[in-house]
Amino acid sequence: MFKTNKKVFEERREIFLNKLGGKAAIIPAANLVKHHADCEYPFRQDSNFWYLTGFDEPDAIALFLSHKPKGERFIMFVAPKDVMSEVWHGFRWGLEGAEKEFKADKAHSLTELRDLLPAYINGSDEIVFSIGKHLHIEKIILDIFSKQLENRSRLGIGANSIKSPEIYLNEMRLIKSEFEIQRMREATKISAEAHELVRESISTKKNERQIQGLLEGFFLEKGARGPAYNSIVASGDNACILHYTSNNSPLNKGDLLLVDAGCALTDYYNGDITRTIPISGKFSEEQKIIYEIVLNAQKTAIKSAITGSNSSTIHNVALTILIEGLKEIGLLSGSTEDIIKDQSYKHLYMHRTGHWLGLDVHDVGAYRMGDYEVPLKNGMILTVEPGIYISDRIPVPEGQPNIDEKWKGIGIRIEDDVLVNNSKPEVLSNAALKEISDLEL
Ligand code: GLY
Ligand code: MN
Ligand code: MN
Repeated sequence: MFKTNKKVFEERREIFLNKLGGKAAIIPAANLVKHHADCEYPFRQDSNFWYLTGFDEPDAIALFLSHKPKGERFIMFVAPKDVMSEVWHGFRWGLEGAEKEFKADKAHSLTELRDLLPAYINGSDEIVFSIGKHLHIEKIILDIFSKQLENRSRLGIGANSIKSPEIYLNEMRLIKSEFEIQRMREATKISAEAHELVRESISTKKNERQIQGLLEGFFLEKGARGPAYNSIVASGDNACILHYTSNNSPLNKGDLLLVDAGCALTDYYNGDITRTIPISGKFSEEQKIIYEIVLNAQKTAIKSAITGSNSSTIHNVALTILIEGLKEIGLLSGSTEDIIKDQSYKHLYMHRTGHWLGLDVHDVGAYRMGDYEVPLKNGMILTVEPGIYISDRIPVPEGQPNIDEKWKGIGIRIEDDVLVNNSKPEVLSNAALKEISDLEL
């Protein structure tokens, strides 16, 4: 199994502490979430907590005290060792493990948080904590903050504001380090191979659920944690439901199958790939026409994912090609400019063309700030995923042509994961084939 590299986390903490510049940050781990009586969902660590600690237990709290001297800056509150709990729920590192293995300057039991936190925060002017996201400890933090505000008014010391950690962490996480790029190569490789497995075995499968089993079994076999998100295995008209996850319809020979699935590695890096393939091994004339439009839009948009470009440019490149293709076959009419301005394409293409990808599938980081478009830089990873979805669900906008029955039930998306690298975007997921000649038998 992949072993995390402790140095990576130490380096991130160092950068984060430098960015904090005198502030005290409180970063909580995720909690277990109840599924139903006495059963929980599989544990999923909070991405920011993971990014800074590599510690994979629930409920822990990490403090980053940039106002303190070296050797007193990284504090962890963790569940202490407990034989009976570990017999029921599994190994935990305890206080000693948090210090020795995870390099906390000091570790305490979680039960000590309320008593010890005020002294740790003392001396910093600002508290860094994500309000509204960790309600189980928010009351403790707000109580301390309120006392500090009082102190400040009397004695001139104490925190006078609460800031979000995202300001610092989003910026760090948006640009992937060499180490992260290697992990993303691994996540996208396993994800792409799973799509290839689906393509190769489609003729032997009868139901969407079997495809889901194949994909997710493959992820586990390759040592991944599991699916990065609920796998979408959508045949025929189901593909027009963007987040279709029922995955339990029979596969009909004349239909397409849209599969949007990727794995999460044990250290949480994610793949996110969509392929749309003909179930019978042959596209119908209409399916092929739509597929060619989407593929052209996707390949051209990927070419525009270069340093200095931005997410809106990529979206507009794809959108323009989709609209022009749809005009040619009579599914849209009017000038492309007007169709974009009026958004009268939205009954056929209703989402953006991509998102950042990393520890979160929809990874952190701004796309734009007001009118300012965040420029692409080397080391950013994003998806490029245009699609066309033709169904009766959304009314045709006024002035646009009615949809001939022959097009209905066609839903196509093609999604790749792209590393920005000067003028040569690298398609990390290119092992999953997508040319028509590759998909037809
Ligand atoms: N699979 C989720 C997405 O493509 O954004
Ligand atoms: Mn995506
Ligand atoms: Mn996807």
